[in-house]
Amino acid sequence: GSHMDGTAEKQRDSLASRYKASTDYAKDAEGLTAPYVSQDPQETAALVRALDDAAKKGKKSGGFSVKKTRYAVASSPTGAEVDSWRFNDWDYKKPDLPTYARGLFTTRTQHGVPEIAVRGYDKFFNIDETRDTAWSAIRERTKGPYELTLKENGCIIFISGLEDGTLLVCSKHSTGDRSDVALSHSSAGEKHLEAQLERIGKTKEELARELRKRNATAVAELCDDSFEEHILAYGPDKAGLYLHGINLNIPEFITYPSPLVQKFAEDWGFRKTGLIIIDNIDDVKAFLEEVAETGAHDGRDVEGFVIRCKKSTNPGVGPYHDWFFKYKFEEPYLMYRQWRECTKALISGKQPKIKKHVKITEEYLLYARKRLAADPKLAKLYNQNHGIIKLRNDFLEYKNMKGTDAANLEDDGAASVTRDIILVPIATIGCGKTTLGVALTKLFGWGHIQNDNITGSKRPPRFTKAVLDELNEHPAVFADRNNSMRQERKQLLTDVKMQHTTARLVALHFVHDDINTVRKVTQERVIQRGDNHQTIQAATDVNKVIGIMEGFIHRFEPCDPEKDPDEGFDAVIDLDPTAGSRENLEVVIRELHRLYPNFVKEVPPAEAMDEAIKFAMESYKPDLRHI
Ligand code: GTP
Ligand code: MG
Repeated sequence: GSHMDGTAEKQRDSLASRYKASTDYAKDAEGLTAPYVSQDPQETAALVRALDDAAKKGKKSGGFSVKKTRYAVASSPTGAEVDSWRFNDWDYKKPDLPTYARGLFTTRTQHGVPEIAVRGYDKFFNIDETRDTAWSAIRERTKGPYELTLKENGCIIFISGLEDGTLLVCSKHSTGDRSDVALSHSSAGEKHLEAQLERIGKTKEELARELRKRNATAVAELCDDSFEEHILAYGPDKAGLYLHGINLNIPEFITYPSPLVQKFAEDWGFRKTGLIIIDNIDDVKAFLEEVAETGAHDGRDVEGFVIRCKKSTNPGVGPYHDWFFKYKFEEPYLMYRQWRECTKALISGKQPKIKKHVKITEEYLLYARKRLAADPKLAKLYNQNHGIIKLRNDFLEYKNMKGTDAANLEDDGAASVTRDIILVPIATIGCGKTTLGVALTKLFGWGHIQNDNITGSKRPPRFTKAVLDELNEHPAVFADRNNSMRQERKQLLTDVKMQHTTARLVALHFVHDDINTVRKVTQERVIQRGDNHQTIQAATDVNKVIGIMEGFIHRFEPCDPEKDPDEGFDAVIDLDPTAGSRENLEVVIRELHRLYPNFVKEVPPAEAMDEAIKFAMESYKPDLRHI
C-alpha cells in the first residue's frame, strides 16, 4: 500500500542512512598527526607506588581497590614480567584515582626502570549511566568531531612492544596461556596477529618496535566464532582482530584520532572498525536514536557505538582531553530486534526463536502473521528491511502499549497479575521487616501477618494458615518472619503452593554481604527499640538479645534464586539492610510496579512514602508482648 512507500521514503531520507559506517577514513588521515608523549619514569614510579599501596590496603582502604597479578611473558628472551592492575568497576566512578585506565600492565626494564607496558582506554560509561553521560552534560562539555565507532562484539586485546623487542599481547587483565583453559584470549589474539602479519610479510618484532617507538598500545577486538561466540556472528570471512584504538602509554588518557587508527590497521594487517564522524552533537543524538529503532545500521546488526570526542571541565576555554562514552542498545530495542528476526523467520518459513519476552512476542507474531497474509507485498519489503518499524508500531498501537512497557512485562503473564501476592522477607533481627510491613499496609491496605504474634506450638503451619487467610481479605500479604534458613523458606513455599495455586511469592532478600555493618546497624536499632517488641526486649536483657541476634546471623543462608528452595520464588527483590527503611520501601514498591504493573499501578509520591515510614517507626506498637 501507499503507506509502505511513505515509510520507505522516510527511511531513505533519514539521518542514519546519510551516514554510512565506513572503514575508509584512513585515506583522510594524511592531514592528522599522531599524538606522542614519552614516558616519564618518575611519573610511572609514582603511579605504581599509588597502585601498590591500594593493592596492599585491600578493600578497607576507603579509597579504591585494585588487584595486582604478575605474569611472566613467555616469549621474552630476557624473562620479562608484567603486572596487571585490575580495578573494581564501580571504583572508576570515584574522583582522584591515579589513573582511569581499564586494562593496565606495568613492567620494569632490565635496568629496573618502571614502565607502563599496556594502557587501555579510560573506563567509559553508557549514556545516562553517570552524571557526565547525560545528554545535557555531553552537549555542554564536549566538542567534536564525534567519532562513532561500531561496538564490535568480541573481547578486547592489547598489543605493545617491550624493551627487549618482545611483542606483548594481553587480554583485559591477563596474558599468556593458562593450564586450565584450552586457549586463553590473549593466545587466541596472538595467533590471529601472527597470521595477519604473515599475510603482509611483516614480523612481530617489527610491530613491537613500531609500537614502542610510538610509546603506544594498540587496542583491538578479537572476534572469532570458531574461538568464542558472542551475540553477533563472525564467520571465517569476518573473523579477526578489529583495531579500534591506539593509546599512549602514560597515566593520562591520550588516544589517536580514529582515521589514524584505521591507517595503522591498514599498514599492519588489522581489520578496520567501522567509523562514522559527525561534527554536531545533536546530529549524533538523532543518529543514535534512529539506529536504536532498528538495531541495525548499514545492513548490519549493531550492539551499540562507542563515541569518542574531547571534553573539558571548562568548556569553551579548555583544556580539552580525550573522552569516550558509549551508546548501547538495550530494551526495548533488544525486544524489537527479536521481533525483527522472528518476523524474518516467519517469512522464510522457519521456526522463530523466542528467547525473552515470550508472551508479548508470541502475540506480536500472531499479529504479524495476519498482516503478512493480508498483504503479500509486505513480506518482500520486510526482507529488504522496509516497514519493520511500521509493523511493530502498528502492533503496539493495536495493543495500546508503549514499547518500553511491552519490554517490561514479565514473560509469564505478569501483566494479568492484580492480586494474591505474598511478600516473604529473608532477613535477620532488626533488618526492618516489620517497619516495611507496617508502611506497605498503610500505603496500600495490604495484609500483614507477624510470626511474632503467633504463640504456642506448631507455629510454621499456623503462620502459613494465617497468611493464606489474610490473603482472602487483601490483595497482598506481608509474611513477617525472618526466613533466614532455607528450610524455613522451603516450608513456606511448599505449604503455600499446596493450598493456593495462583499465589505468587516474592522474596525480599536483605543482602548480608557486608556482615559487620549489618551487625552494627541492626544491633543499634534493636537496642534503641528497647522493649517495644513481642519477644526481643533489649531494654530488659541486652546481652541475651545480642546473643539471639548473633544466632540468626550465623544461621543466615543467603537467597540463591538458581537453587532449591529459592528457585520457587516468583521474583526476588534485593534490599540493603544497612540502608534506611525508607529507601528499602521505595525499592520494594518500584520493583513490584516493574514486575506487576497492574498490581502496583503506580509508585506513590515521595511524601506519602516518607509519611508511611514515619508512622511505622514512630507510632507502631506491637499488639502483644511475650513475658
Ligand atoms: P525483628 O522483628 O526483631 O526481627 O526486627 P524487624 O526486622 O521487624 O525490624 P523492625 O522493623 O522492628 O526495626 C527494628 C528497629 O529499627 C525498630 O525500632 C524500627 O523503628 C527501627 N528502624 C527501622 N528502620 C529504620 C531506619 O531506616 N532507620 C532507623 N534509624 N531505624 C529504623
Ligand atoms: Mg519485626
